[in-house]
Amino acid sequence: MPAYILEVIGVTKVYRLSESVETWALRGVDLYVGDGEYLAIMGPSGHGKSTLLHIMGLLDRPSSGRVLIDGVDTSMLSDKELAYLRNVKIGFVFQQFNLINRMTVLENIELPLIARGVPRDLRRKLAIEALLRVEGEEGWLSKRPNQLSGGQQQRVAIARAIVHNPRMILADEPTGSLDSRTEAEVLRLLRKLNEEGRTIVIVTHDENVASEARRIIYIRDGVIVGEKD
Ligand SMILES: Nc1ncnc2c1ncn2[C@@H]1O[C@H](COP(=O)(O)OP(=O)(O)OP(=O)(O)O)[C@@H](O)[C@H]1O
Ligand SMILES: [Mg+2]
Repeated sequence: MPAYILEVIGVTKVYRLSESVETWALRGVDLYVGDGEYLAIMGPSGHGKSTLLHIMGLLDRPSSGRVLIDGVDTSMLSDKELAYLRNVKIGFVFQQFNLINRMTVLENIELPLIARGVPRDLRRKLAIEALLRVEGEEGWLSKRPNQLSGGQQQRVAIARAIVHNPRMILADEPTGSLDSRTEAEVLRLLRKLNEEGRTIVIVTHDENVASEARRIIYIRDGVIVGEKD
């Protein structure tokens, strides 16, 4: 087993909007994440936090540099192989929940399993288990996400992120749209998932949220400028 579940080595990201306009979202980031770590990424708005998280989660490719997952260099992989690896290893949680309102809660939670070809009965069983693990209620299953409160939707989103039992959960401002009580519930769930051995990486503006993590890194202008254990 490699010491790190995730290695980000010399990663840059340039968004080219036109021939003459480009944005350097990441200017050379090195970051090593241990298996079972709870890491927070902080920094001002527009300084590259989400870009980094997306690249760490194989949702996007760096312009240069490499991302290794469990020692596997993902720069060598095809888009299809990346999608497979992402689907096996990683669960995502977003600020705006990113649930699909034309689908039921059950169907939303099942999505990562559909991608893996899990049969319907097993999908349903695993989806219900995931929902109960995040202290959701079975009564939600047939509802649409927009019939639930924000906090309930975020629990459904976390259930979707863990239904396929990923080792790593990447969360981008997961409490940014929640009130403080619901925020505390979501943080408690993330802590529980970390105590079960899952690696958690959370992007946040909020010192209080970041204090949940065992390590905080600070990003500014697309580079890591500090770290706190
Ligand atoms: N798809 C894109 N196309 C072009 N530019 C982008 C794109 N995504 C991000 N950027 C730019 O890259 C920079 C970093 O953006 P990013 O979303 O990573 O910031 P952030 O730290 O997550 O900010 P926030 O705290 O507001 O979410 C910004 O200048 C942004 O405008
Ligand atoms: Mg962001």
